[in-house]
Amino acid sequence: MSYDIAADIQRLKKEKNAVILAHYYEEGDIQDVADYVGDSFYLAKMGQQVQQDVILLAGVVFMAESVKILNPSKTVLVPDLEASCSLVKGAPYDQYLAWRRQHPDGIAVTYINSSAEVKSISDVIITSSNAQQIVESIPKDRKILFGPDQHLGRWLSKKLQRDFVLWPGACEVHVLFNAKKLYELIAQHPDAVVIAHPECDDTVLQYAHVVGSTSRLLEEVEKNPAKKFIVATETGIFHQMQKKRPDVTLIQAPVMDSGCSCNNCPYMKMNSMEKIKHALESFNPQVGMSEDLRLKAKISLDRMMDITSGKTVSWPTKFTV
Ligand code: 13P
Ligand code: SF4
Repeated sequence: MSYDIAADIQRLKKEKNAVILAHYYEEGDIQDVADYVGDSFYLAKMGQQVQQDVILLAGVVFMAESVKILNPSKTVLVPDLEASCSLVKGAPYDQYLAWRRQHPDGIAVTYINSSAEVKSISDVIITSSNAQQIVESIPKDRKILFGPDQHLGRWLSKKLQRDFVLWPGACEVHVLFNAKKLYELIAQHPDAVVIAHPECDDTVLQYAHVVGSTSRLLEEVEKNPAKKFIVATETGIFHQMQKKRPDVTLIQAPVMDSGCSCNNCPYMKMNSMEKIKHALESFNPQVGMSEDLRLKAKISLDRMMDITSGKTVSWPTKFTV
């Protein structure tokens, strides 16, 4: 009989009173061993609500940091502390702070794909599934600084007809989708519905019938009666799409270099079943931060949670850090 690592992980979860939260971009075996699978907003909310003592976040580190900020009494584990994100790397604290100081009257709307330090100097956090609702709650006469993803920002700015001062960051995975090749692929499959994540650049997004968060794209595949979808996001999500709709054909949107597997997120794909097992056994690696930083970063995350649960929030008039 072959060794069953999934069974070992299930046993460890019970023994350690642990829960596994996984993002849609993880490998299928990791998604299948998780208790909850979802987009970054859903994972933050679940991280705040779950009762177990230990939370293992199978995703990238900023997702685990958000859980720790919102639910500090839990032990928060990750499979690999190196699992970062190009948006986090492209928005260092010092530079973000200098940018904020250049626009002290602006409200800083920051994507959850950011470090805890950057969250601590932001006014509100957004994810791709709640960005529109949050920006719409900001008074029209206020200037908006939007970072670190310029593509999500540009897409939202067009959609809401509102100007943003954009930070020039990007997702290194989504920017690889190629508009010319996508155009040619659509010509070969005129019956396909094109769905794309807003981290893609606007030359790609112009061809999409649906633009949305990972959960929105999954919902489209689940509910749209079409039989074929061209998907411009990370390949991990195909696992849930195919589970929900085994009858459809899913075609990965093309990248420039057709031989590469570069539309896999290298950070998400650092995680493995072995690393999950190790983290649960050893309680290592853990995500942590100083209490001072946590409390500062919590302000912007709390605003996100308040707005999305229908509460009215107030906005600072000036940035004073
Ligand atoms: P979602 O919030 O849509 O899951 O996106 C997270 C992410 O990192 C996309 O690259
Ligand atoms: Fe970051 Fe892009 Fe990976 Fe998402 S897919 S975690 S935005 S590098």
